[in-house]
Amino acid sequence: MTSRIAILGSGEVGSTIAYSLILNPVAGEILLVDPKEEVRDAQVQDLSDATFHGDTTTQVRAGTHKEAGQCDIIVITAGAAQKKGESRTDLVGRNLKILGSAIEDMKPFRKDSIIVLVSNPVDILTYFAQKMSGLPKDQVIGSGTFLDSARLRGILAQKCGVAASSIEAYVLGEHGDSQMVAWSHASVGGVPLELALPDTSINKSAIAEETKKKAAAIMENKGATAYGIGGVTASICKSILFDEGSVRPLSHYQDDMKVCLSMPVVLGRKGVVRQIPMKLSESEKNEVEESAKSLREIIEDVEK
Ligand code: 2OP
Repeated sequence: MTSRIAILGSGEVGSTIAYSLILNPVAGEILLVDPKEEVRDAQVQDLSDATFHGDTTTQVRAGTHKEAGQCDIIVITAGAAQKKGESRTDLVGRNLKILGSAIEDMKPFRKDSIIVLVSNPVDILTYFAQKMSGLPKDQVIGSGTFLDSARLRGILAQKCGVAASSIEAYVLGEHGDSQMVAWSHASVGGVPLELALPDTSINKSAIAEETKKKAAAIMENKGATAYGIGGVTASICKSILFDEGSVRPLSHYQDDMKVCLSMPVVLGRKGVVRQIPMKLSESEKNEVEESAKSLREIIEDVEK
């Protein structure tokens, strides 16, 4: 049977994800789902013009929430986007409402559907989507700090003169202000960072800050981010549909902390196959716990 990916929300982020999935085809069909029918249909028309691309076999069409609930993957981008000066967590009230009604409209879900949350605040929405959907927790994940980790690798690559693909470095915790860099596990070509690049001076806190602020810096001048999240989400979809077993930092449920936040996981057709255990330093552990604490406070506030 044709594999299908539904994308909820046909704004800048949703349509960029669709475009990435056309250029790097993994699914037979992409369904754009959006109550704003005129915009949705115009995006479908525009995207279908891109399917002339030689290698693609992917078709794009408008879909309903009910159809989305029967797709292999449901990517959720619906919701208000951050405005200049807003933090991702400022969106929680508005976007939880939108998420709740979208999930109800999609029910009943196909048993093996995977939900990928992209809307912000992604960790909070992933937590509630797990509860509201009734799907196994491993099948409901958030794009989390995969994008921040890609940004970190890009910045390090420039500073070190090494290809980003040869750098392993994770941003973990919240996709937001309390995120942290797991410097103890950063490596170049599999060799610990300091050992691999003894002559390169790396200001870790400045790099972590630049990584964290990159989305805001982009928004300052163009109002939104789209291409980074488009590429990252297409890559998540590919790992799932092809049952790749790729290791990615994604937001998922942490039993001990009772929140969803990003840690490296093995990603396959069933969603999160398992978490990769990390031996973080004491101060890194504290940073992750602080990140969990700030997410927990938001969740408790919502649940009050
Ligand atoms: C990003 O980091 C805004 O969460 C979005 O690009």
